[in-house]
Amino acid sequence: MLKARDIHKTFGKVHVLKGIDLEIQPGRITAIVGPSGAGKTTLLQILGTLAAPDKGGAVYFNNVEVSCMPDKRLSAFRNKNIGFVFQFHQLLPEFTLQENVAMPALLGGMQRKEAMKKAADLLGKLGLEDRGTHYPSQLSGGECQRAAVARALINNPGIILADEPSGSLDSENREELHKLFFTLRDTMGATFVIVTHDESLAEKADIVVRMADGKIRSVTTQKP
Ligand SMILES: Nc1ncnc2c1ncn2[C@@H]1O[C@H](COP(=O)(O)OP(=O)(O)O)[C@@H](O)[C@H]1O
Ligand SMILES: [Mg+2]
Repeated sequence: MLKARDIHKTFGKVHVLKGIDLEIQPGRITAIVGPSGAGKTTLLQILGTLAAPDKGGAVYFNNVEVSCMPDKRLSAFRNKNIGFVFQFHQLLPEFTLQENVAMPALLGGMQRKEAMKKAADLLGKLGLEDRGTHYPSQLSGGECQRAAVARALINNPGIILADEPSGSLDSENREELHKLFFTLRDTMGATFVIVTHDESLAEKADIVVRMADGKIRSVTTQKP
């Protein structure tokens, strides 16, 4: 599925990623942990094709190299195949929850009626069925983050990348969001790569990638 080979990233003179090789397992939750500044976000952005690796490195999705695609093709590819969840939900305030969730489908060319129906279905699955007509400002942080997960799922992506998705939530909402990831893995076979500081999430993940100073220090496959 998603594979990275010899990823380096340099910003000016700062060598942030120093040769990363990683293969993501489908249907599994991979947690990426490590100290702040280790390069986790940079790696996730490169895996998600939001940033390009330095010359010589490559990212493959189902054995197709995506790191060399031209921009226009790449954004269509990304919209179809990769779901993103960030630390802050980044829902658009002037749209309802249902419209926010439908957005990536609409951008991908789906008819509005179908996209809105799909968004409503997903909101239902995520326990937000009565919230579709509400605006993000009317919801709690936990609800917004669940809606962000629904938005990430709407195009049935092969993989969901999340960068500190529970970093702005209180412990109760954090727990609930983490549970949702495992439920989606179990019910839909969803594949997640989650950058997290949360040790309890890392403990439960199928695979834990530990990073420090721009390198992968260990990859551990954990028993359930
Ligand atoms: N766009 C950028 N320009 C310059 N330096 C950057 C940029 N993005 C990240 N960095 C630097 O790269 C290092 C790793 O950052 P990041 O990937 O955000 O780490 P983490 O997510 O593990 O905290 C940091 O030293 C950061 O300052
Ligand atoms: Mg980060």
